[in-house]
Amino acid sequence: MLYAFILGRVYTLALAELLHVFDNMQISWQIMACSPEVVVIKTEQTLNAQALQARLGGIIKIIRLFDTFQKKGKEYPSQVLTNYFSFKKTKDYLSDYSGKKQFGVSIYSLDPTIRFREESQRIAFFIKKILQDQELSVRAVIPQFPDQALSSVQVNENQLLQKGAEIVVISGTQRLFVGKTLCVQNYEDYGRRDYQRPARDEINGMIPPKVAQNMINLAVQLKPLDYILDPFCGSGTILQEAILMGYRAIGSDIEQKAVENSEKNLEWFRNRYSVPPNRYKLFKSHAGEISLMIPNYKVAAIVTEGTLGPIYTKLPKKIEAQKNFKQLAKLYEQVFLEFQKFLSPKSKVVICLPAYKTGIGYDFMPNLDFATKNGYTILDPLPIDLTKKYKFLKVTDRKSIIYDRRDQVVAREIFIFQYKASKQETVIEGTNVSETESEEKAQNPKSKAQII
Ligand SMILES: C[S@@+](CC[C@H](N)C(=O)[O-])C[C@H]1O[C@@H](n2cnc3c(N)ncnc32)[C@H](O)[C@@H]1O
Repeated sequence: MLYAFILGRVYTLALAELLHVFDNMQISWQIMACSPEVVVIKTEQTLNAQALQARLGGIIKIIRLFDTFQKKGKEYPSQVLTNYFSFKKTKDYLSDYSGKKQFGVSIYSLDPTIRFREESQRIAFFIKKILQDQELSVRAVIPQFPDQALSSVQVNENQLLQKGAEIVVISGTQRLFVGKTLCVQNYEDYGRRDYQRPARDEINGMIPPKVAQNMINLAVQLKPLDYILDPFCGSGTILQEAILMGYRAIGSDIEQKAVENSEKNLEWFRNRYSVPPNRYKLFKSHAGEISLMIPNYKVAAIVTEGTLGPIYTKLPKKIEAQKNFKQLAKLYEQVFLEFQKFLSPKSKVVICLPAYKTGIGYDFMPNLDFATKNGYTILDPLPIDLTKKYKFLKVTDRKSIIYDRRDQVVAREIFIFQYKASKQETVIEGTNVSETESEEKAQNPKSKAQII
């Protein structure tokens, strides 16, 4: 079976998360094609798309692909599909909604240097005509800008999945896939999980719930009810996402105020999302002494946004940045040594460290000796053959993935450490076969849909 996954803005993190979740759920996968906006995957299993969508912070849409066409070269998708959408075929794509049907058409390119301008409009027009010729009244929704796809907001607001379908065409130079969207990211709910929480800490910052989810998913081989520890829990974002995903969470922070914020937020969250009781514990503790607080808990993984040091609105001077890194390295040395007291071999520590955006790149913590000298190995977040093949994937030389936003000076550098790895393990085990179609991403989430 073929599925496509539309990758979020930080596409390397989204892909790493997806493949880790597949491995954790023992879903076989083979990559058939990949670009910064979409990955096409072949699997033996029928996927529960709704359940997968809910746990993948980095995935915008999940699409079931029904047909594949070999292309000879430069034909436009509309040329390839001229005879494909018969009346019967089109009806098979649409839901059985009894009112006026609505469908949308989105095109994704496997080679973002090639944009298919106005192709979604062309395809939507001919599908609409086929349906109207058979006296079926329909409304077609197309992206406002000629070479873009419909956003998840547009799919939702137009109720396309309930009232008809979002028909998706994914085209490269050698192949074209066609299918329909099964589900889209619940952007409203992510907003609630972020902004409706009763307690916020704008000074230390809070990790976006999607990124918290990405990081939890990178700590593979977790079972329901396993304990996840966040020893720098702040307002409790990682803890809330962990309990929503069916794990148990232990949070601690050096600041009493942060523990109280987490308490308030988790109480609100537990009621709002009907999480069973006793799924989390909170402590006030220095992270370097956390073992004293948790003698009776078996921690399966540590997922944390460690303190990032001072938050800047302007790039700090080199000397100041170095001073911060030195202090943090000292703290993390103490903390990683502390983790040894209770982590079992092979447990993961998924952590973000600060990196300063310099305008031409990043100023990173100079070394990771605090972990690597103390029995921790850094794992590749993606299989090496994949990052070699798809050069647009952004895994740094030191095996991290950067999550940042344009307006931020302090970026998050995400690492997967493994305690006492027996050898350098390849965490992810699928295979990839594909065509080489790639390069830059061009997407504007703010665009509006158009009705024709
Ligand atoms: C970046 S914030 C974490 C925010 C959290 N991820 C959230 O979404 O709310 C870092 C937290 O680390 C805490 N912290 C700083 N140094 C600490 C230490 N030595 N031990 C434990 N917590 C510490 C701070 O009080 C702060 O709440």
